Amino acid sequence: MSAVRCDRADGARGWRPATEEALYGPSGFYRRPEGPAGHFRTSVHASPLFAGAVARLLCRVDEALAHPADLAFVDIGAGRGELVTGVLKALPAEVASRARGHAVERAARPPGLDHRIEWLPEPPPGVTGLLFANEWLDNVPLDVAEVDAEGTVRLVLVREDGTEALGEPPAGAEAEWLARWWPLTGTPGSPLPPPEAPNGPPPPEEPPEDVHASAAGLQGPAQAPHGPHGPHGQAAEGLRAEIGLPRDAAWAAAVASLGRGLAVAVDYAHFAGARPPFGTLTGFRDGRETAPVPDGSCDITAHVALDACALPGARLLSQREALGALGVSGERPSLALASTDPTAYVRALAGAGEAAELTARGGLGDFGWLLQPVGIPNPLAGGEQPST
Ligand SMILES: C[S@@+](CC[C@H](N)C(=O)[O-])C[C@H]1O[C@@H](n2cnc3c(N)ncnc32)[C@H](O)[C@@H]1O
Repeated sequence: MSAVRCDRADGARGWRPATEEALYGPSGFYRRPEGPAGHFRTSVHASPLFAGAVARLLCRVDEALAHPADLAFVDIGAGRGELVTGVLKALPAEVASRARGHAVERAARPPGLDHRIEWLPEPPPGVTGLLFANEWLDNVPLDVAEVDAEGTVRLVLVREDGTEALGEPPAGAEAEWLARWWPLTGTPGSPLPPPEAPNGPPPPEEPPEDVHASAAGLQGPAQAPHGPHGPHGQAAEGLRAEIGLPRDAAWAAAVASLGRGLAVAVDYAHFAGARPPFGTLTGFRDGRETAPVPDGSCDITAHVALDACALPGARLLSQREALGALGVSGERPSLALASTDPTAYVRALAGAGEAAELTARGGLGDFGWLLQPVGIPNPLAGGEQPST
């Protein structure tokens, strides 16, 4: 159990510092020996097909960079190094001979990791290659804002046992971020602006239970008492937003570390015009979704406003589109193969099942891929350009 320092006499503090300590403090959740895979399943754990597809993307980046002598694969939020290990293993020998894996992680280097993988607290500066962040940004701590009974937006404070109270209204850059990306600012006589058209892939449908992305049932009540607007046109009490400013900054810093190449952030995402009205903050423990309690006992996560993270030149795809473009398909093998080569048929069938999980509607396939080329053309066709 971590000792959550208090900002107020009643023991409450903002969600951002509370999460920071609960996840990354000396006895935080991500310091535990079992690692993230002990508590939830990401695309990396779901199938080696994911690492294979990322290896193919690295090959495309390599081509766009004209085959540099040093080709970097930087995995941000590397967990226990599972993705970087799988990517290096899946590369063709010639590319592998020039490739170097960099795992960027706040947790300690796991024993037995391939000695060729460098374990770092920060992204290496100025490298050339592919920087990849799978389910990293959702774990970058942020503050939460909520509309009170008078229609005023206030920061949500939390105690170590998870009970919440409302604090001051957000100010400065946080208030500006809310106004730009997730407005909750309706007051009597100035209702919320009408929703804009989403400028990214559609928001995820409810994923299956064992998928880390699931926030089913924990996005607050199904409906505010008066819908998204209060009885007099003000924002309804209880509406919430998660202030993604620290994620935007974290992503911008990661992209800035890349000399040339492609940066990719993959996460469960939402987009302007279709933000979840009560937010998505939730917890995960032992494979189950749980109440987010900032005591180090569970993961604390919130979906990512990926469009807000996007920098000029970015494109947004769904994981289904991205993996499809990288050759991952859930198509079943032909029955003819079963009679000519039963072993190959069974292998292909298992692969099709795993591909189906990675690309499933309502599950991992709905994740957003934010592609940010740096000094090269985008090596993956398709997707939409977010407004930045
Ligand atoms: C949800 S896990 C994802 C692990 C892995 N990428 C996967 O997809 O299986 C998020 C990881 O990001 C790490 N992390 C969070 N913030 C970080 C930071 N600022 N620098 C490096 N790692 C970070 C956590 O320690 C954790 O291992």
